Amino acid sequence: MKIPQPFQYQGSKRALATTILQYLPHRVHRIVEPFAGSAAFSLACAARGKAKEYWLNDFNKPLAQLIGLIVNQPEEVSEFYKSTWRSEDQEPLEHYYQVREEFNRTNDPKLLLYLLARCVKASVRYNSDGLFNQSPDKRRLGTHPDRMKNNILGVSMLLRGKTIVTAQDYRDVLANCRDEDVVYMDPPYQGVCGERDARYVSGISFDDFVVALDQLNARGVRYMISYDGRLGEQSYGEPLPDYLDLTLVEIEAGRSSQATLLGRKDVTFESLYLSQTLSNEMSALPCTHYRANTSQMQLLEPTSPYGKIPQRVSTAL
Ligand SMILES: C[S@@+](CC[C@H](N)C(=O)[O-])C[C@H]1O[C@@H](n2cnc3c(N)ncnc32)[C@H](O)[C@@H]1O
Repeated sequence: MKIPQPFQYQGSKRALATTILQYLPHRVHRIVEPFAGSAAFSLACAARGKAKEYWLNDFNKPLAQLIGLIVNQPEEVSEFYKSTWRSEDQEPLEHYYQVREEFNRTNDPKLLLYLLARCVKASVRYNSDGLFNQSPDKRRLGTHPDRMKNNILGVSMLLRGKTIVTAQDYRDVLANCRDEDVVYMDPPYQGVCGERDARYVSGISFDDFVVALDQLNARGVRYMISYDGRLGEQSYGEPLPDYLDLTLVEIEAGRSSQATLLGRKDVTFESLYLSQTLSNEMSALPCTHYRANTSQMQLLEPTSPYGKIPQRVSTAL
């Protein structure tokens, strides 16, 4: 089944969701995504009927509101997108800048959908005042309204009636998780951004994050985290500390565009950490998931930079 996508979003886990899903128990009451972005993981779960309820949260308020509208008022959002998209017939670039200015003034989530669809490489950028400052893509028109409508209706069909959407700091979400929840976290990566990343309105502190995970461990809440990884032998970001007792699974994410440009064969691996409660339940061991077509080339893959010897698993991603 082709899983609908509400909008393209940098850092989306759409391509890795199927692999991550393998670590989810069979029947889950609720999946909680404190760093939801475009909610790719929850959508992949909903498409397979993995949970009864979903809690999507993102600190970026217009983004969270947009997800909420897409889920609950899909027709209205599609119509608004269509009229905004059509209005650019005259002067597309000028129209984009007008919409961007209006969005920065009003924070209207429906305008954000147009900006997400129409900005350069679909990659949002915010300045230090939190204002959206990405330029329009001069070569692409953005998603056609018919296609957008199909996606939006598809997302709504999967999540409506079983989803709550909030715009809180992730720590408030974690504090209100229930024992039976499974939490999937995909925070802004430290390797890319430190604590300020122009791609997102807010970043997080590594130390605060570790404290929050320690508290989840004390409560026995099951969770998984996509966090940093490595490019070839070069790991990025500080690994999460051993005392959290996490199981590290690496997932091959493909060749970086930088490496391709330089003619190198370095492949990016993203880290997925599983809480001890979850890895015990799923009998999960540290391992590396390779894309099926590269597994033969990687037979001499050395030990993971995190010191654990990975098992080899080939996955059609
Ligand atoms: C890597 S993106 C998540 C991408 C998502 N997994 C997807 O598939 O689209 C990280 C998200 O965390 C959000 N974020 C940043 N700081 C946050 C905070 N303190 N609390 C909650 N969300 C936060 C950002 O707005 C961003 O949307």
